[in-house]
Amino acid sequence: MNSKMRSNADAVRAMFTRIADRYDLMNSLMTGGRHHAWRRRVAAAAAGVPAGPVLDLATGTADLAIAVRAREPARFVAGADFSERMLRVGAAKLAARRVTRVRLLAADALGLPFRDGAFACVMSAFLLRNLEDLERGLQEMRRVTMKGGRVVTLDIVSPQVPVWGALFGAYFNRVVPLIGAFVAGDRQAYTYLPQSVERFVTPAELAQMMEKAGLREVSYHRLGLGTIAVHAGVV
Ligand SMILES: C[S@@+](CC[C@H](N)C(=O)[O-])C[C@H]1O[C@@H](n2cnc3c(N)ncnc32)[C@H](O)[C@@H]1O
Repeated sequence: MNSKMRSNADAVRAMFTRIADRYDLMNSLMTGGRHHAWRRRVAAAAAGVPAGPVLDLATGTADLAIAVRAREPARFVAGADFSERMLRVGAAKLAARRVTRVRLLAADALGLPFRDGAFACVMSAFLLRNLEDLERGLQEMRRVTMKGGRVVTLDIVSPQVPVWGALFGAYFNRVVPLIGAFVAGDRQAYTYLPQSVERFVTPAELAQMMEKAGLREVSYHRLGLGTIAVHAGVV
């Protein structure tokens, strides 16, 4: 990673560290509470993969890890993130809800500290838009997934339907930064959010990149009135 990419990654980490304490509340306000249902759809993808642990990559405040544990009581879940503050909020939530068999650890998605094929399923929610090197991130996800295992990702995308797309754009670009300023005290972070969605690849492009990273049977579907894409591929 060159120094510009490194400083962008540092800025992303600093931003999530700043907003960690209000992150969950902001998600609920912005989505009307729907974000939990979307993560449950991702967690469902762990069903049917080979025996073995699941990695929730960029686990943040651990909501996806919790959704996986609720669905798959026998599985061990590792939650990795490069913001220790987000992990601390996640750890407090796991303790408060007495969720067991989840281990949180600090790690960079672009250089994962796991051996090849360590996980039966590698998942991420709302990570990919934030990566400095998406291609490398996908390769790392594939590398640490075992043969026959699955990589599943969820992220925000621009809706395709023109009028709805314009309305969503107005909400996301104008209203969300205001909510971010008042609730999280961080307008900048919630201005970055819609900008990162605008810069992000389309669902079809992401599917192609997943194939290029070595995943097979790549498919995707949209949720949240077309604003969320869930991609899955097999190793
Ligand atoms: C929008 S939050 C998503 C958190 C969680 N997955 C969820 O569903 O709410 C994005 C998370 O990605 C983490 N992140 C961004 N880039 C990362 C990287 N290169 N390596 C590890 N974590 C990263 C951030 O620290 C942040 O916690």
